[in-house]
Amino acid sequence: MTDVRDIAIHYAHQNRDRFLADLKDFVRIPSISTLEEYKPEVLRAALWLADHLRSIGIENVEVMPTEGHPVVYGEWLKRPGAPTVLIYGHYDVQPPDPVEEWQSPPFEPVVRQDQLFGRGASDMKGQVMAVVSAVEAALKTDRMPVNVKFLIEGEEEIGSAHLEDFVKKHARKLKADVCLNTDAGMIGADLPSITYGLRGLAYMEVRVYGPSKDLHSGLFGGVVHNPAQALAELIAGMHDKNGRVTLPGFYEKARRPSRREREEYKRLPTNDKFFLSHTGVPKLWGEPNYTPAERVSLRPTLEVNGMLSGWTAPGGKTIIPAYAMAKISCRLVPDQRPADVFKQMKAYLKAKAPKTIRWEVIEMHSSEPVIVDLAHPAVNAMADGLERVWGKRPVFHREGGSIGAVIYLQKYTRVDSVLTGFGLPDDGIHSPNEHLHLPTWQRGIDTVIHFLFNLEK
Ligand code: BES
Ligand code: MN
Repeated sequence: MTDVRDIAIHYAHQNRDRFLADLKDFVRIPSISTLEEYKPEVLRAALWLADHLRSIGIENVEVMPTEGHPVVYGEWLKRPGAPTVLIYGHYDVQPPDPVEEWQSPPFEPVVRQDQLFGRGASDMKGQVMAVVSAVEAALKTDRMPVNVKFLIEGEEEIGSAHLEDFVKKHARKLKADVCLNTDAGMIGADLPSITYGLRGLAYMEVRVYGPSKDLHSGLFGGVVHNPAQALAELIAGMHDKNGRVTLPGFYEKARRPSRREREEYKRLPTNDKFFLSHTGVPKLWGEPNYTPAERVSLRPTLEVNGMLSGWTAPGGKTIIPAYAMAKISCRLVPDQRPADVFKQMKAYLKAKAPKTIRWEVIEMHSSEPVIVDLAHPAVNAMADGLERVWGKRPVFHREGGSIGAVIYLQKYTRVDSVLTGFGLPDDGIHSPNEHLHLPTWQRGIDTVIHFLFNLEK
């Protein structure tokens, strides 16, 4: 007798081209959440997704307003007694800049070899559509194994600022047995993974002010401390020679990786060579007492995301700029708190900033570090799904990125997340020429079908 899940998988295979066409339509919408002028496009993506969910039979679909970008909600609850899966995703994307580095326009998705190129193809419109397509296939069998709810937000890439209030307010509506979150990626096309931890984030701007206006560098160079230089000196002092962050108290609450965890990490294929080939740097950098795989997920870090000061257009202009700014973010591990890290940055500047300049820290957004419970039965349902499709057990690891929603769902609805995904480390997420590996994506759809049927009671 054919298993119902095989009917669903057959349907998914039959509909591959159309699933891809749907994904391309979604990627065409430039839903860049961080840029005010793209607000109508962000809304258009929400409306597109809502329509699509309705078209596959999801009920009570709503585009629900927040103080920022809206949340797309929908549900299918016609299997009373069966488990309910809350499907998390985000429909917003990062800016495509630098646009001139794209081989094809970021919002005109194209397939080259077996990759779909476009901003959001991997992070995370492709992941959202993998799950939506799997749900469509399961619904088509008329033996949908579980109930589902969708929570697809439009502000993940800007720190999920308004999602906390949303989850708090709609905690009952969002109640489920588990959340499926496919925003965490996988380690390699031949190595499925389940993520049990995410780093948190504290994002800030450090602003340094010098003279009251830009000055002629010939008339004043030598008597004025250049703010660009002062900022560079301050930034240079934020790490010691060993790549350790020097903000006072930064490591105090940072949980040390357990011996067992470090033992497990030895099995990961992410060695020096992996990081060299995925980054193109001539040599790796960072804390010598930890392996690269440990440094990008089990250890906290401080990064400069961007700097701005003075004359940067073509040609020369001899000035001492009045102002310099750096965007700085720290990735945090349990049990660090973003609020403490903002304080530590201010304490560092208070102690180290010279009297020659004035400074200010703008706290932008933050996200708490997360650990999820691997003993949840849905983790097994996913591990089995991945194993059936890839032919090998997934590895369990922590990821370096951040996803705000996970903690809000734990905190306000007591729903824990299964974190996985079908995006690969070399998809170029947040980079030019972002792409999605289509064979992996298609395996992802099959995996989610197995996951849903594995949950059936
Ligand atoms: N999908 C990523 C997060 C991610 C990437 C998790 C790789 C695990 C592995 C997500 O869209 C993202 O980039 N999030 C931001 C959140 C931040 C703005 C609060 C991030 O991590 O920079
Ligand atoms: Mn993402």
